[in-house]
Amino acid sequence: TVLIIDFGSQVTQLIARRVREAGVYCEIVPFQSAEAGFERIKPKAVILSGGPASTAETGSPRAPQAIFDAGVPLLGICYGQMTMCVQMGGKAEPSDHREFGRAYVEVLKDCPLFDGVWTQGQRHQVWMSHGDRVIDLPPGFEILGRSEGAPYAVFGNVERKAYGMMFHPEVIHTPDGAKLIGNFVHHIAGLDASWTMAAYREQAIAAIREQVGDGKVICALSGGVDSSVAALLIHEAIGDQLNCILVDHGLMRKNEAADVMAMFREHYNIPLALVDASDTFVDALEGESDPEVKRKTIGKLFIDVFEEEARKIGGADFLAQGTLYPDVIESVSFTGGPSVTIKSHHNVGGLPERMNMQLVEPLRELFKDEVRALGRELGLPDSFIGRHPFPGPGLAIRCPGGVTREKLDILREADAIYLDEIRTAGLYDTIWQAFAVLLPVQTVGVMGDGRTYEYVCALRAVTSVDGMTADFYHYDMEFLSRAATRIINEVRGINRVVYDVTSKPPGTIEWE
Ligand code: XMP
Repeated sequence: TVLIIDFGSQVTQLIARRVREAGVYCEIVPFQSAEAGFERIKPKAVILSGGPASTAETGSPRAPQAIFDAGVPLLGICYGQMTMCVQMGGKAEPSDHREFGRAYVEVLKDCPLFDGVWTQGQRHQVWMSHGDRVIDLPPGFEILGRSEGAPYAVFGNVERKAYGMMFHPEVIHTPDGAKLIGNFVHHIAGLDASWTMAAYREQAIAAIREQVGDGKVICALSGGVDSSVAALLIHEAIGDQLNCILVDHGLMRKNEAADVMAMFREHYNIPLALVDASDTFVDALEGESDPEVKRKTIGKLFIDVFEEEARKIGGADFLAQGTLYPDVIESVSFTGGPSVTIKSHHNVGGLPERMNMQLVEPLRELFKDEVRALGRELGLPDSFIGRHPFPGPGLAIRCPGGVTREKLDILREADAIYLDEIRTAGLYDTIWQAFAVLLPVQTVGVMGDGRTYEYVCALRAVTSVDGMTADFYHYDMEFLSRAATRIINEVRGINRVVYDVTSKPPGTIEWE
C-alpha cells in the first residue's frame, strides 16, 4: 500500500489515480489524521500531496514525524516537497509570486526516479505550481532537476529513497508524470503492479457493508453507467437491503425505460420498481422555456416522486448515488472561491436532508473510465458500459423554448434515427456523446410539390475525455447527409437539419 497524505490540493485524487494506474493500491488520508493512518495502514511508501499553505506560516500543516523515522520511501509534491524539505532539515521560504502553469525542467542528474523516462541534459514540459521555494537542501539531498523559476525543481536522496518535486506529476499537463510516479512506486518503493479492479471491488464492498450495517438503502437508477454500477456494487455488498427506483419522467429517449428495465430484469436480481411519472413532469414543464426553471422544476419533482416511493417501501436510512470524482471536483472551484453556476445539474440533492438520509457514494473516488472498468468487472454487458452519458433532465433540455408533448415526441423520433445511423456507421464508440436537439424555430421547405413550415433539428456529437472540455465530432459529409435525409423523410414535423460545430468551451455540450 501507498499512503497519500493530503495537504488540500485540488488534484490529490489524481495522484491516487496514477498510483492505481501503476497497479498499486493506495489510500488517501488528510494530513490531520495522517499519523493514525500511517499506523493503521503501515504503507510501503508515502506520497505528500500539494496544498495551499506555506511552510512559513505558523501552524502550517506537517507530515507526521513517524514517516521520516520509519525510513519509508517518500515522494513530496509541491507543498509536500516543501514540508519534506523543512522537516528533513532543509530550508524553504515564501516566494513573491505564486506560479501555476507550464514550465520546463532541465534534468541535471540521472536517478531511479527518472529511470527510462528522463536523462541528464534533457528538457521536459511539466505543470508547475510554486508558492514557497527551497533555499537549503536537507542533508544528504542533491538537486536532480531545475527550471527557470525553480532552481530546486526536483531534489532527492537516492540512498534514503526520498524525492521532492515542485511540479505536479499527477496532471496530464506533465506528460511524463504518470511514468515518474510509476518509477517511484515500482523502482524506488519496490511494489508490484498487482492491484486490479477486482481488488477495488472487494474493498468497495467491504466499505459499503461497514457503512450501511443492517440499514436500508435506496438508489435512483437512471440507466446510466454510473448509477447502474453503483447499484450492482451495493447489491453485491448488502443484497436485498437495497431497493432501486427508476423514475420515468417522460423525458427519456425512445424505449429507454423499457430497455433499462429489461436489462436489469434479465441479468440481475435487484429489487427494481419502475415509476411512471411522465404526466406529472411533462404537465409541470408544459410551455416553460427558461432553462434554469426547467432544471429546477425537474429536480424538485424528482425529489417529490422519490420521497413518495421511498415512503411506500417503508423509508430508508441511506441514499445511493453514482457520484464520480469529477462531480466532486467540479463542485469546488479551482481557486477555492465561489464558483459560478453555469447550470444546475440535476441529481437528488436536497433529498437526503429532507428525509434525514445519509449518502452512499461508492464511486466517489473514481473517474468515468475506471467506473467502466469496474462495470466490466461486475459483468455489465459491454453494450451497457459503453453508453453515452445522458443528462438527468433528459429531453427537456434538448427542447429549447417551451416543452410540449408534441415536441418531445418529434425529438424522440429524430434522436432515435440519428443514433441508429451512428451505430450503423460504427461510430458510436468513437463519439463521446451524441444527440438531437429540437429548435423552437420553424422554417419553410418544399416536399413533394408542397410548401412545408416545420421545425429545425440540430444534431450534436462531441469527443471528450471527461465532459469538462469537448470538441465537436468531425463527421464526413456523407454521414450527415444520410442522417439528415432520414430524419426529414421519416419524422413528421421536421423539415431542416443543421449540425452544431461548437466546442466546449465556449459552448456547453447540452444546449441548455
Ligand atoms: P454540459 O452541457 O454542462 O454537459 O457541457 C456536460 C455533461 O454533463 C451532462 N449533463 C448532465 N448530467 N444531470 C446530469 O446527470 C444534468 O443536469 C446534466 N446537465 C448536463 C451532459 O449531458 C454532458 O455529458
